[in-house]
Amino acid sequence: MRIKIRKTAAAVLFCVGMLVLCSCGKGEDETGGKKYIGVAYYNQSDTFLNELLDSFREQLKELQGQDMETVVMIRDAAGSQRTQDDQVKELIDAGCDVLCVNLVDRADPSEIIDLAREQNVPIIFFNREPVAEDLMQWDGLYYVGAEAEESGRMQGELAADMIRADSEIDKNHDGKIQYVVLEGEVGHQDAIIRTETVVETLIGQGIELEKLSNQIANWNRAQAENRMEQLLGQYHSQIELVLANNDDMALGALDAYRKLNYTESALPAFFGIDGTDEGLEAVMDSEIAGTVYNDKEGQAGAMARLSLALLTGKGMDEIEFQKERCIYLPYEKVTEGNVSEFLLRSR
Ligand code: GAL
Ligand code: CA
Repeated sequence: MRIKIRKTAAAVLFCVGMLVLCSCGKGEDETGGKKYIGVAYYNQSDTFLNELLDSFREQLKELQGQDMETVVMIRDAAGSQRTQDDQVKELIDAGCDVLCVNLVDRADPSEIIDLAREQNVPIIFFNREPVAEDLMQWDGLYYVGAEAEESGRMQGELAADMIRADSEIDKNHDGKIQYVVLEGEVGHQDAIIRTETVVETLIGQGIELEKLSNQIANWNRAQAENRMEQLLGQYHSQIELVLANNDDMALGALDAYRKLNYTESALPAFFGIDGTDEGLEAVMDSEIAGTVYNDKEGQAGAMARLSLALLTGKGMDEIEFQKERCIYLPYEKVTEGNVSEFLLRSR
């Protein structure tokens, strides 16, 4: 019995100790020292987001100046909204003064919003856009991202220009372009809108299309390779154009052709979106015909400036918002002709 009591006392002491440690965020912050920024994102296997978060940390360091120190605490939800809800609670309990949240399920932010509002911790949602009504639930909520529609249109324009300039893309010379789409996640604003607009744009530009298939590959290179291998089993050399919702999936599709030893002349034209480091390299090496730059430095910079403004109460008037609390960074077209500019920018 005595041993048990001692053990319980030790456990209580340990918990109190942990509480003191965990709440150190707020303690130091009140003394004007460190500020804590909690970042929660949907999946650490996402290439674009990892590059965006690297840039966020770098820019935050540059922007915060001498008399301030921020600590960034990053949590990976591994694709589970339940896990993310718990992580946000933990970040708030640990004393975070601002949260940057990349929702797992963009339609399900209520729990996170309630938690943050209770403790008056503002949230900058990023990349996965909550629906407008959710964002209007409280004035401590913001969004940083890009307009999906613009990226689909630009991808369509790039592809249309290239199809017009190179008659060899229509390999079987039937006047139509046989294409497949590799889509991001079900229900993601970028996946749905990019897929719709790229096809509409091509049709609007007078390109005759024949759809062979639409496949979901969840933004993921390995999944795209897998889907493409299956499609190749079915369509062999018939595919003339691969429209991928992001670069990782365009690269995964190319991986499948390489794995199955297709010759260069049998390859379709691949188009991606993002301009990740590997995506840009592939454009440089003419492996991917073009991509659309998803301005991760611009988005990360906006998140860093907004975080600092919310932490210090200074600089908010200099930030330009659209729809009251949103910041959308423009996309840009990338081809072999201008890719070197983007490679410089993302280093
Ligand atoms: C998109 C991006 C994808 C993926 C996704 C995650 O904007 O193009 O590569 O990162 O966000 O939400
Ligand atoms: Ca054709």
